[in-house]
Amino acid sequence: MTHDHDSRDGRNDDGQLEIERYRWPIRINHWILAISFVLVALSGLSLFDPALFPLSMLFGGGPWTRILHPFIGLVMVIAFALLGWRMWRDNLLTKNDVTWLRDIREVLENKDENLPPVGRFNAGQKLLFWTIVGCLSALLLTGFVIWRAYFSQLFPIGLIRFSVLIHALCGWVLICGIIVHIYAAIWIKGSVKAMTGGKVSYGWAYKHHRSWFREVIAGRRNND
Ligand code: HEM
Repeated sequence: MTHDHDSRDGRNDDGQLEIERYRWPIRINHWILAISFVLVALSGLSLFDPALFPLSMLFGGGPWTRILHPFIGLVMVIAFALLGWRMWRDNLLTKNDVTWLRDIREVLENKDENLPPVGRFNAGQKLLFWTIVGCLSALLLTGFVIWRAYFSQLFPIGLIRFSVLIHALCGWVLICGIIVHIYAAIWIKGSVKAMTGGKVSYGWAYKHHRSWFREVIAGRRNND
């Protein structure tokens, strides 16, 4: 039984102390983003290479895939814009992040006790955040240029060809980045719970995001 329904801390069913990491609007926003990403990635891959064309069956065949892909892409970009708007300040890189990245080996070997305390997000999460910002901006801009049904007639063929290339490249970088994101989410026990139930244990917060943990406990910050 959770003692505390609406505030930042309480206990879970095992009696562990917990704090809130993400409120429900942000979690719903994140999962809309995740679902739209999977759909846009699958439809995009089916348009990328004939070997992957059978994936278009998931969307009702080739023509439907071509119609739906850009609209789902827009949903994804809007979902990320809303999420990113809430999170960008927590993703600004600091001096401590440089140390964390330099000693990434110790992080991977689980010997990170001597590294500087991490804020709400670690340097890896921050780098991924800005990679997503860059890729989605480029995908959006180039996507309009190659959106034949409505916009392509406004642009010269050379620009359309160049945009197709950049679009595919950024799609590829984003897919690789999100694979790493999902791997990290599963690898670090307790993270998925943060994005489903919204709460994390004191232990998780202390181990992975110590200075964020201290700020929350001291009541110096609220989370979205
Ligand atoms: C498809 C399956 C996905 C899963 C299982 C997943 C899982 C998670 C989890 C568990 C967290 C919380 C991590 C923490 O609090 O430290 C998180 C955070 C986040 N997710 Fe996802 N996610 C997925 C897709 C995406 C996609 C497609 C994007 C963006 C295009 C995205 C962007 C973010 C961002 C910006 C955060 C906050 C910072 C961070 O943890 O990196 N996620 N995700």
